[in-house]
Amino acid sequence: MGAEAEAESAAPLNDERRRRQPVEPRALTTASARAVEEEERLEREHFRRIINAFRYYGTSMHERVNRTERQFKSLPANQQSLLPQFLPHLDKIRKCIDHNQEILQTIVNDCVHMFEIRNMEKMDPFFRGSGKITPASTFDMDKLKSTLKQFVRDWSEEGKSERDSCYQPIISEIIKNFPKERWDFSKVNILVPGAGLGRLAWEIAMLGYACQGNEWSLFMLFSSNFVLNRCSQINSCKLYPWIHQFSNNRRSADQIRPIYFPDVDPHSLPPGSNFSMTAGDFQEIYSECSPLLYHFENLGNELSIELSYEDIKNVILQYGFHIEVEKESVLSTYTVNELSMMKYYYECVLFVQEEEFSQYNSFLYWRAPLPAIDLSDIQNLDEETPSGTKAAARTDTTEAEMET
Ligand SMILES: C[S@@+](CC[C@H](N)C(=O)[O-])C[C@H]1O[C@@H](n2cnc3c(N)ncnc32)[C@H](O)[C@@H]1O
Repeated sequence: MGAEAEAESAAPLNDERRRRQPVEPRALTTASARAVEEEERLEREHFRRIINAFRYYGTSMHERVNRTERQFKSLPANQQSLLPQFLPHLDKIRKCIDHNQEILQTIVNDCVHMFEIRNMEKMDPFFRGSGKITPASTFDMDKLKSTLKQFVRDWSEEGKSERDSCYQPIISEIIKNFPKERWDFSKVNILVPGAGLGRLAWEIAMLGYACQGNEWSLFMLFSSNFVLNRCSQINSCKLYPWIHQFSNNRRSADQIRPIYFPDVDPHSLPPGSNFSMTAGDFQEIYSECSPLLYHFENLGNELSIELSYEDIKNVILQYGFHIEVEKESVLSTYTVNELSMMKYYYECVLFVQEEEFSQYNSFLYWRAPLPAIDLSDIQNLDEETPSGTKAAARTDTTEAEMET
């Protein structure tokens, strides 16, 4: 699987939800050359939009905090004096925002080298880190916040129980179906579709299987590139993933608690491991354990039909898959805030189906590990003075929680 994937060219990423249409070389007439050009333009545009969202995070979050501050200050002085810790708490949040922003900036600084998109850097100063930052959509900001929480789920000690409940059943099924006694693990190719930040795929590769994670979201791809290729010292990086949650906090300190990552060294795969992450759409699935949370439901300009598990299962069977294992009501969470006063639990369905993998659209971008980035210059919340109120850009964003 890896070899074929490596030979493929870059999958267009202009729209996370669009499938790639293969282009036959002989069909490259003027019209189709124009179509390719247009494809590349849209691809750059999409890259630009996501990079802009990473860079806009701080402005958007500072505006959120400034709004709270303004509202607090509109209270009568005698009421404000009942809450002497309120404004200092907002200042702490501001420092957390600045720290998150620095990590996000580090992530995007690296992302232009991930894909072989022709002359991207030369063609657009934005990709060299300059260029005007414009307000990002609420949708993109929500995706970014979800991506920050994904670091907890995949690469922190706090995420272990969630990983145990979501990933372990899949890993157990793989081991059961492809036991060491009967299989040469390195010849068993496993695809993890929608791999997020790549931890499940990495765990499978750790066991010795050839494993490829696949993902179409640039939010996820940029971030997994960072953690897998740039972080190697255990718990050397810090994020504040809960600062976006202003409600349901038992203690104010819960909102500004950090998480540390990675909880393991992503470069510690055994020698000869076959592990990669690919960008693009997937077509076929091996094993799945998930809820049916439809992210594009109720989004006016997005196509979405929300199927029941029963309907999905019928479609799977019509594709010729045979369901080997089926467990309903596997209780799990998704990027849960353990200390929150409100938590979502999903009753997932675990099913295992058998079918040969066929080709899917992706390309390999991880090869040798890159040198780790020195993060020591990123400010430490405990050591530095408050950054103060940042100039807030005009934005109409509203706070809305949405999982990736
Ligand atoms: C709910 S998240 C789960 C991520 C990860 N598997 C985990 O358990 O943490 C689903 C992921 O699938 C990705 N995804 C959805 N449809 C996809 C497709 N057709 N091709 C590739 N990735 C897809 C989304 O971008 C998202 O990151």
